[in-house]
Amino acid sequence: MTLLEQIDKERMPKHVAIIMDGNGRWAKAKGLPRTAGHAEGVERVKEITAEATRLGIKFLTLYAFSTENWNRPAPEIEALMTLLIDHLEEETFMKNNVRLLTIGEFGKLPPKVQERVQACIDHTANNTRMTMVVALSYSSRWELTETMRHMAQEVKEGRLQPEDITEQTISEHLQTNFMPDPDLLIRTGGELRISNYLLWQAAYTEFYFTNTYWPDFREESLHQAILDFQGRQRRFGKTGEQVEEEKGK
Ligand code: IPE
Ligand code: IPE
Ligand code: MG
Repeated sequence: MTLLEQIDKERMPKHVAIIMDGNGRWAKAKGLPRTAGHAEGVERVKEITAEATRLGIKFLTLYAFSTENWNRPAPEIEALMTLLIDHLEEETFMKNNVRLLTIGEFGKLPPKVQERVQACIDHTANNTRMTMVVALSYSSRWELTETMRHMAQEVKEGRLQPEDITEQTISEHLQTNFMPDPDLLIRTGGELRISNYLLWQAAYTEFYFTNTYWPDFREESLHQAILDFQGRQRRFGKTGEQVEEEKGK
């Protein structure tokens, strides 16, 4: 049986988040410039998005550029932004019925990138099969700081009472408020860290780390990650017996 055949289509993660890491090391290992790794990485974005759509995943959140990535050499940042502009193909989104959205500090992106991305967001707004969320100039602490500012402002203006603030209030104020928390978070490239991604949202997310560099992460790699996920018991603080009993109901 192939990996794909082993996947239980009834138990797909609704939201898969991916930290796409390892482009630079992939290129270096081949004696290529780092940007060649990013270019190959873009091909995997297309492949994995298409496969996630086919599998029935509803939200795919891709970490493409972090707040901290602004500290990279200017030519590398430039190359990443250019790749983004060149590879946003509306036709592919339309063909697959995928909606594009972003999270992150949109205003910090170069105007040309903003225009291009916004056009694609507008064009795909009514697509319903899957939502692909690209985290651009995103970091979780930035998002949380913004959220706290907004909430403080609402309190100041009397629109929000401190005693009414619940976990749900906070979730609703985050940029990710339109989607459920990630069920599965995949990090490629071998590092065992979260690098400022979806800290609040990943409170009960299942983590999957692989040494595979992002440019080598193929459809089968995604199948493998999902199978691994499906083999786990999500207990949310309960006992295994409780979870089994509830499943039987
Ligand atoms: C991930 O690959 C892509 C971005 C962060 C934009 P890296 O560029 O971080 O690749 P490594 O980690 O240096 O191999
Ligand atoms: C995380 O990768 C951010 C993205 C994948 C966009 P990095 O390569 O920037 O992460 P660190 O800094 O090594 O943790
Ligand atoms: Mg990296």
